[in-house]
Amino acid sequence: MKKLGLVFGGRSAEHAVSITSANSLLKGFNSTKYEIVPLKISLDGVWMNPESSLQEILPENRTKLSVPSVSQKELFHFLQNEIDVFFPLLHGTYGEDGTIQGMFDMMSKPYVGCGVLGSSMAMDKDITKIILKNGGIPVVPGLVFYDFEWETDKHSAVKKVAAEFGFPVFVKPANAGSSIGISKVKNIEALLPAIDEAFRFDGKVLVEKGLSVREIEISALGNIIARVSLPGEVFPGAEFYDYDDKYHSGKSKFKIPADISEELIRIIQSYAIKAFKLLNLEGMARIDFFIDKTSNEVYLNEINTIPGFTPISMYPKMWEASGLSYTELLETLISLALSRFQKRNQISSHFTIKISG
Ligand SMILES: Nc1ncnc2c1ncn2[C@@H]1O[C@H](COP(=O)(O)OP(=O)(O)O)[C@@H](O)[C@H]1O
Ligand SMILES: [Mg+2]
Repeated sequence: MKKLGLVFGGRSAEHAVSITSANSLLKGFNSTKYEIVPLKISLDGVWMNPESSLQEILPENRTKLSVPSVSQKELFHFLQNEIDVFFPLLHGTYGEDGTIQGMFDMMSKPYVGCGVLGSSMAMDKDITKIILKNGGIPVVPGLVFYDFEWETDKHSAVKKVAAEFGFPVFVKPANAGSSIGISKVKNIEALLPAIDEAFRFDGKVLVEKGLSVREIEISALGNIIARVSLPGEVFPGAEFYDYDDKYHSGKSKFKIPADISEELIRIIQSYAIKAFKLLNLEGMARIDFFIDKTSNEVYLNEINTIPGFTPISMYPKMWEASGLSYTELLETLISLALSRFQKRNQISSHFTIKISG
């Protein structure tokens, strides 16, 4: 059997989410072609060998794993020579942002999901919006601040936001996820502490006009050219879909397929396909939209290139509702990884400079 290296944990605030995702993936994984090797990255960035990585895997999922005995010292050699394809299931920074993808490219190993460029662009909410806007996809109006601008003149920044959007606004780190560092700000007094808070997670912060929205998500799969699922709707249990609501309160609800008009489904699906190509996405992406409750306008909110695979995760569920089973989904992701790898190898092997003398 071929070996799939399932990489989880990682150096991000979403470390624990990634471990839950890895366990869920294992639960649904059923393959006669691949066995999974668990590879945990600790919060401080240390790669653990398969035996140590196993500690994070629920006992009922352990039977599905291949756990070769590899010392920490031999680990890199093992990854380079024994793993056939990697599946980085790391959410957020140092995982979803192109960093680990670059490492796999350098090692010349195939991996599931987006490459360096797509990952890094989709991770950054500011860059994503620039690319989408340029391609004619509507995004929520926003302002961007870097930490050094903010530190030198907080007062002008606050005034600028108030003048541009009024209230409420949403304040978010440009590079984060799971609603970490995000606040809904209802008045000018609360704006400064909210921006300070967002800067704890990134050196760039986005402030967006706060809309009253329905939250519609859609799953995409492919290499640049995407196939898309039926959309689903999230009904947050809190005032907005915050961290607690996503992972703890259990109050949020989901509806797949979303109860929206055929016309809106068509618009959302076509924006998703277009966005996938504009951002050079490969493998998978969950693309999240807002529908403004007052104007019915559709906005693309954000793109997750390594979406959650937890029990409540929309990405695999929307595929299931669209006729693609969990097993078929994972097989498709692996074959997309392999075909991208083959294609890139063909291109790079065409020509090598030879120096004589
Ligand atoms: N401009 C906005 N208007 C209304 N609600 C928003 C806006 N931006 C974010 N939200 C709310 O905050 C949640 C998290 O924001 P999002 O941009 O999706 O960040 P994350 O990457 O952390 O999921 C959204 O699901 C939504 O509930
Ligand atoms: Mg989101």
